[in-house]
Amino acid sequence: MQTVRQSSQSGGTIRRMFRTRILRTCIAAVLLSFTLAIPAQQLVNGYEPKWWKEAVVYQIYPRSFKDSNGDGIGDLPGILSKLDYLQKLGVNVIWLSPHYDSPNVDGGYDIRDYRKVMKEFGDMGDFDSLLAGIKQRHMRLIIDLVVNHTSDENKWFVESRSSKTNPYRDFYIWRPGHTAADGTRTPPNNYPSYFSGSAWTLDPKTDEYYLHYFAVKQPDLNWDEPKVRQEVYSLMRFWLDKGVDGFRMDVIPLISKPAGMPDLTPEQLQNPPNAYANGPRLPEYLHEMNREVLSKYDTMTVGEATGTTLAQTNSLVDDRRHELNMIFNFDAIKLGRPDFGPSVLGPWSLSQLKAIYDAHATVLTKHDWDTVFLSNHDNPRIVSTFGDDSPAMRANSAKLFETMILTLRGTPFLYQGDELGMTDYPFKKLSDYNDIAIKNAYKDQVESGKVSAEAFLAGQAKVTRDNARTPMQWDSSPEAGFTTGNHPWLAVNPNYTEINAAEEESDPGSVLNYVRALIKLRASTLAFVYGDYKDLDPKNEKVYAYTRTLGGERYLVVENFGSSAQAYTLPDGLKAGTLLLSDIPTSHEANASTLNLGPWESRIYKQ
Ligand code: NOJ
Ligand code: CA
Repeated sequence: MQTVRQSSQSGGTIRRMFRTRILRTCIAAVLLSFTLAIPAQQLVNGYEPKWWKEAVVYQIYPRSFKDSNGDGIGDLPGILSKLDYLQKLGVNVIWLSPHYDSPNVDGGYDIRDYRKVMKEFGDMGDFDSLLAGIKQRHMRLIIDLVVNHTSDENKWFVESRSSKTNPYRDFYIWRPGHTAADGTRTPPNNYPSYFSGSAWTLDPKTDEYYLHYFAVKQPDLNWDEPKVRQEVYSLMRFWLDKGVDGFRMDVIPLISKPAGMPDLTPEQLQNPPNAYANGPRLPEYLHEMNREVLSKYDTMTVGEATGTTLAQTNSLVDDRRHELNMIFNFDAIKLGRPDFGPSVLGPWSLSQLKAIYDAHATVLTKHDWDTVFLSNHDNPRIVSTFGDDSPAMRANSAKLFETMILTLRGTPFLYQGDELGMTDYPFKKLSDYNDIAIKNAYKDQVESGKVSAEAFLAGQAKVTRDNARTPMQWDSSPEAGFTTGNHPWLAVNPNYTEINAAEEESDPGSVLNYVRALIKLRASTLAFVYGDYKDLDPKNEKVYAYTRTLGGERYLVVENFGSSAQAYTLPDGLKAGTLLLSDIPTSHEANASTLNLGPWESRIYKQ
């Protein structure tokens, strides 16, 4: 007994010593973490400063930017020849849409070989020269990482489909589907594809269905298979080791599939991306990717977050999670239309647009970061969608949206041609289009008799992705100086004789020169990066007025969203301050509290 008691006493002593040691270790760990934590004085308004927070990003869609050899297809040497133009514009990060080897059924978002350059764009030597040219000009390059799916011509899929026992079989998502008593085959579930029809295709060779959220030729990778993840990390290292500075991650919330992949409910079928995105293993995959690859380089990552609500944003970008830096949330760009299928442009109001930015400011913390954008290669032109592209209003309304994008909270993303105020193309016939999304939707909606061809084409002209993909308008020479040949892969907008970079270069009042001034102002004003945002008048349907405040510095931005003049009185007796920039010559109205704003006028004041 004694022995037992003794031993239990000494056990108690040991436990106490142990507890004390744990306590000490914990205190030491906490103290250490304080020492390692960034001292408060290094934070800017509570934010950890980063180059990618201060960047202005410019997206290049290589097929449409600049053709160097007259074959009608933009290419990497073409981009190289325009780097001085981009440097003069003032942007400091280029996001290059896919440049990889691809059969190109979906604008290169169907990758055959992740370590090769699309042959129409050039070769690896051209890529290296482009990267060197970008670095020489003190800019950075992020590339598209498309790893939710590959091309069906990718060697992994060629292997995978060849037999059920092939080592690559589990690189993709195969299911037997259902067989009725009469032998009729139906897909494993009711998932629709983003590009119309079922998201499953029966492959005759092994008599199983494979999943493709996008085109039939874009099979989805199976991220549950660890070898897939290792392959992806390896290809990421390949490009990072070359010197690229990060990735825009295509449809990244889709990589983890819904548990068990049951049928979508009728309610979920109203908005399939919400059901497809943010599957149960997404945080694990992103965290692993960060740990294995991203944390070892100084990168910028931006996830294209289809199906992701604002409330889900923190879980992707909170810097304490070590996953992504920021995401594209589609609330603003898809205002008035759904993010799935052949939508049409619906009505939207200014208060709805403001409410999106106001909500971001509330939901995102100092550990999160945001993006600001209204354009990319998947959406129509800003000025035709949100503004007024009539000749009298086009330039001012284009300038207003650039003002907004470059002064709101978050890293701004411009898409090629925004800086010129490029507009939508006058699409008429189906043969005017190239995009697989439209061609498939036409079959699905028109050939099946659901919608008339006229109604379909009229609606699609305003939302088609091809609006963004017409060639960049460089000058007033034939084919807008995009190509020296006479067959650009997609027709040049006929308005190129008036809207082009050369013309705008020589016009001090052009959109181009305004955007340059705006970027310059942003580059010298940290308040536009790290400053607090306050919407002064959220319900006003005509004018967007907000402040950005950093320490003792406050800036006021006032934008008249309309084609008629507005006398706008600032709320709470506020006075405007000193005018820094306006898109139209004005009387400045310094320190006035009522501002007489011209059509689509935007002004930036320092208070
Ligand atoms: C999003 C890309 O931005 C779009 O262009 C593409 O069609 C889909 N992902 C599929 O990769
Ligand atoms: Ca070319």
